[in-house]
Amino acid sequence: MIESKTVPDVEERAALRERDRIPVAGPWVTDLEVRYVAEAAANDWYTHAGESVGLFETEFADYLGTDFAAAVPHCTSALHLAMLALGLGPGDEVIVPESTWVATAAPVTYVGATPVFADIDADTWCLSPESLARCVSSRTAAIVTVDLYGGIPDMADVRSVAAGIPIIEDAAQAIGGKLDGRLAGTLGDIGTFSFHGTKTLTTGEGGMVVTDRSDLAERIQRLRDHGRTPADHRFFTTEELGFKYRMSSLQAAFGRAQLARIDELLDKKQQIFAWYEERLADVPGLELNHRRDGLTNTFWMVTAVLHPDYRLRARRMMELFDLHSVDTRPFLPPLSSLPAFAGYHTAVTAARRNKTAYDIASRSINLPSALMLTEAQVDRVCDVLHTILRPRKELS
Ligand SMILES: Cc1ncc(COP(=O)(O)O)c(C=O)c1O
Repeated sequence: MIESKTVPDVEERAALRERDRIPVAGPWVTDLEVRYVAEAAANDWYTHAGESVGLFETEFADYLGTDFAAAVPHCTSALHLAMLALGLGPGDEVIVPESTWVATAAPVTYVGATPVFADIDADTWCLSPESLARCVSSRTAAIVTVDLYGGIPDMADVRSVAAGIPIIEDAAQAIGGKLDGRLAGTLGDIGTFSFHGTKTLTTGEGGMVVTDRSDLAERIQRLRDHGRTPADHRFFTTEELGFKYRMSSLQAAFGRAQLARIDELLDKKQQIFAWYEERLADVPGLELNHRRDGLTNTFWMVTAVLHPDYRLRARRMMELFDLHSVDTRPFLPPLSSLPAFAGYHTAVTAARRNKTAYDIASRSINLPSALMLTEAQVDRVCDVLHTILRPRKELS
């Protein structure tokens, strides 16, 4: 009898590839999260309504050592609230680094201010203090620093350039990071975090805004709840128009469980980085995430920067990884290159000036860094990278 189907057909092969595909990011969820959420689902109503939110905020503030923490729907709203609390508006300029997710800069436009794009430092991949100094003007009303991929900029130099201009630290990607003994998110006037499903600590979607300044805390408290203060809760009085930027109890319960496991989550990120570092140590002209004395980089996304001699563009690298069912991402493209900012004159000057952000983005990708990644999967990713680079090694 003739075997009608001895080899997998195209669709089966595609399905197999998809099953074996190594994801670029994702959380680590245990029974603890499920238990916390189930308890909140059963209990966080009536006199206990929203209890998990308050607990999550208190525990998060304790973890960071800040006076105030407000749980919000995402880091985008955390940044929006931070900018509102600082009173930013039309006529103000807000300096942001070129290399970040668009959510760092979008809220600048929500408040009617103008984003100014500063270059990044070639080593830290974060805001360059030298470029910052060139961007500061009499209209600069705030600076947003970004702890890119779990690294942290040279904050002492940033602060000395800022000379009193308020700093928002966008620590969306850097929970648990440290610089000179201080935790990421506590290095500016206000810190913001993301708990998106790709982040080290997740609530699915979610965020937190933290500060030690009581004036900012009071504004954030009011603006995130339709202009009400906690004292107004039983009455429908509205002092001013605000926003509905609150986290749900079920998300907060999930976040509490993740926060209880934060050391384990951070250790796994260190482990993933160490696996990559060991396997890629022999590749010439390959740079991974930055480390320096006094910095705890949390390696949210392990990122590979190839020497220009490889003449391998980030897009091409991604295509090659795709062929091997490995999911990767490009280094974040410079904000000034995004069509969304084409109408801003600040983007035109930035695109000419910010050579480092453009250069690094052209030859760098994020490698799979999901929390559930196994050592065998890292082996596979590194084998693919070795295969991609082998014919090109003589160039380096
Ligand atoms: C640097 C940075 N800022 C802000 C955000 C926005 O976070 P969210 O998706 O929680 O709004 C992100 C999300 O990826 C981010 O990476």
